[in-house]
Amino acid sequence: MKIISVVGARPNFMKIAPIIMALNKHTDKFEHTLLHTGQHYDSSMSDVFFADLGIPKPDISLGVGSGSHAEQTGNIMIEFEKICLAMKPDLVIVVGDVNSTMACTITAKKLNIKVAHVEAGLRSRDMTMPEEINRLCTDVLCDYLYTTDHFADENLRAEGVSDEKIVFVGNVMVDTLLHHKELAATQETYKKVGVTPKSYATLTLHRPSNVDDKQNFIQILEALAEISQKLPIVFPIHPRTKKMAAEYNLIHFFDENNIVLLEPLGYLDFLNLNINAKMILTDSGGLQEESTVLGVPCLTLRENTERPITCVEGTNVIVGNSKEKILEEAFKVIEGKKTEGEIPEKWDGHAAERIVGHLLGLEEK
Ligand code: UD1
Repeated sequence: MKIISVVGARPNFMKIAPIIMALNKHTDKFEHTLLHTGQHYDSSMSDVFFADLGIPKPDISLGVGSGSHAEQTGNIMIEFEKICLAMKPDLVIVVGDVNSTMACTITAKKLNIKVAHVEAGLRSRDMTMPEEINRLCTDVLCDYLYTTDHFADENLRAEGVSDEKIVFVGNVMVDTLLHHKELAATQETYKKVGVTPKSYATLTLHRPSNVDDKQNFIQILEALAEISQKLPIVFPIHPRTKKMAAEYNLIHFFDENNIVLLEPLGYLDFLNLNINAKMILTDSGGLQEESTVLGVPCLTLRENTERPITCVEGTNVIVGNSKEKILEEAFKVIEGKKTEGEIPEKWDGHAAERIVGHLLGLEEK
């Protein structure tokens, strides 16, 4: 089976790593090509993850870069079509919900190539979120839908997807986390940053709804300023957020409060910081899941989540971007009223093996 797997943006790299490892155990069955669209291109947003996670250098790099949604999506489609026509793969594997995921799915399906989506069925029901559009378009087209939990299965069934397309495999990002946790724990990142274990929070913030909208951005910063009086906050800043903070003249806010601003971090460094954190504040998707597996309380700075299992079973609480709600929940954690969580079914480090097991079954058919 000739397979092209696609990555483009930071959250894709930790998802593809265990799949490549599992595919490489069956080189007699699979001819695998790794393609990087170039959606993320800074070394701190891309190269460092290849090094940390031992992902082989991409066989093909499209070098598409940034742009508006239509530009980025369109450019990926134009370039990816040429590759598909030349290589004629039997299967394209896409992961997550970024523009690269949707662009490559549409391109491959228009050429009648089978596509498998890893992390299918997640729904926030928030159509202002670009990722929700990517998820819907991707899932409706894909042939094999690998899901992380039963909520995702139910979402797909409710949309009329037939059962034989849906394969509940668990969470590949958790494969990566469990594989690297011990090594990450031995790093001295928190010491270098100047914080002590369980006495600080980590923060990620980059959603357009939080940082492109000035009022929302300021509300969140005001809440963070108050939290940081009790608990220092370590903040590896995303390029989008840095750009918007500069545009709105808000960079001084971090210096004036107990917020340690860092450049984007590699996988192992950030995992070290999260293992040792008292609390995780985030608007990203993956971190809601990682905090659940690490058993660290997580406050999600969004109005909704496509990963409800992290709230129902894990350590996650949705707090939106209103200052009052953020502070109310943050102080519960600071005062030790910690949310206990459980680890969801099949988030056990073997999801990629299940995916490859399913593909081997297709090979035999
Ligand atoms: C993308 C994903 C988002 C994911 C996030 C993780 C989509 C729609 N969004 O958002 O789901 O959570 O990645 O980071 O696909 N930039 C750089 N260097 C880079 C990449 C981006 O400076 O290597 C800057 C550019 O100014 C760019 C902006 O960040 O315009 C936004 O990048 P883009 O890939 O469009 O979206 P993200 O906000 O990173």
